[in-house]
Amino acid sequence: MIDDGPYEVEPLEELEALETADAAAAESSLSAGSLELAGFAAGHASEPVKDLVSSYSIVPIPIAILDSSLEFLYKNDPFKRLLASFRAAREPTLLGAIGRFIDAETARSLYVGLKDPKRGHSWSGTIRLKSKDSSSVLAKTTIMPFKPEGSAGQEPQAWVAFFDDVTEERNGFLRGLFSSLLEASKLKDNDTGKHIERVNLYTELLARELYRLGNWPDVDVDFVENIGFLAAMHDVGKIGTPDDILNKKGPLDEFEWSIMKEHTINGAFILSSYPNPMAKQIAQSHHEWWNGTGYPYNLVGDMIPLPARIVALADVYDALRMRRSYKAPFDHGRASLLIASDSGTHFDPSLVEIFKSIGGEFAAIYDSNADEPSA
Ligand SMILES: [Fe+2]
Ligand SMILES: [Fe+2]
Repeated sequence: MIDDGPYEVEPLEELEALETADAAAAESSLSAGSLELAGFAAGHASEPVKDLVSSYSIVPIPIAILDSSLEFLYKNDPFKRLLASFRAAREPTLLGAIGRFIDAETARSLYVGLKDPKRGHSWSGTIRLKSKDSSSVLAKTTIMPFKPEGSAGQEPQAWVAFFDDVTEERNGFLRGLFSSLLEASKLKDNDTGKHIERVNLYTELLARELYRLGNWPDVDVDFVENIGFLAAMHDVGKIGTPDDILNKKGPLDEFEWSIMKEHTINGAFILSSYPNPMAKQIAQSHHEWWNGTGYPYNLVGDMIPLPARIVALADVYDALRMRRSYKAPFDHGRASLLIASDSGTHFDPSLVEIFKSIGGEFAAIYDSNADEPSA
């Protein structure tokens, strides 16, 4: 039901036309007043249902009232706005409006639940409303039957559907959980907190540029927001790397190096329960190389998940800029040249091209988030 996978791509022109029309439809129905009743003109709403509509007209969360064939009889303003932002304002039925956001099994269970007296003519579940150009909304949805007094045992005359937006609640919970994990890993890892913050900022910048260019179907608003938070988790697996290897001053021997490499697999394991697969992809694949010589799995080219390819470039750029025990910090020009020279070997060439076009912004992120001078 909760789908973090790729959305369906519709032709751009069609989408734009729909968006404009939906916004206009939402606008005109909002200005027509809250008690616009889609079905009343056809005369199929009874007096008790009209009373029901009146009683819900000032409820602040998104609400719809449906007739016996699940057509909308009434949508309150918050619900109209919700549908308009996902280009579904003009759909006459509930399944028309939310069908594209749910899988076939969920649609079936919803339909059966509402029709089946043994299930109380009701349904509840969580739906993720999603489009390329809006942050997704997680809506806890409850659909309850309406039976006027004296009609027990009969089919419901209408349904009331509540859509409780739990996006902030859910995101806040997940982010809190993973921030704690990050804090725990920082106790071990010798990379500074600023490195992690900068990697988040570079990756978000690169992803935003990909979104703006529009050639990457997987890159939508959610992708940009998520990678800007999850990039920081790339080395969380180092929590399982022994301190003597992690903090060793000289070069690692072959055995130590093989243990060090395991931080990718450990990170993937730690993040495997995160609902968005991007977290695991970043931890697991940020040391893969475009030409197949990276680790842990020698993935080649676009077999490497895009979020990991983006983080790889950002992580290396920042490592080049930083002072390390074995090297002085490089300036932006030198770091950029090294990134460019590794195009097609270490890095995805198309990402290197984009990096070159916005390199100045990488430099600005580094400069305005510099590390505290060490004592
Ligand atoms: Fe790493
Ligand atoms: Fe890093």
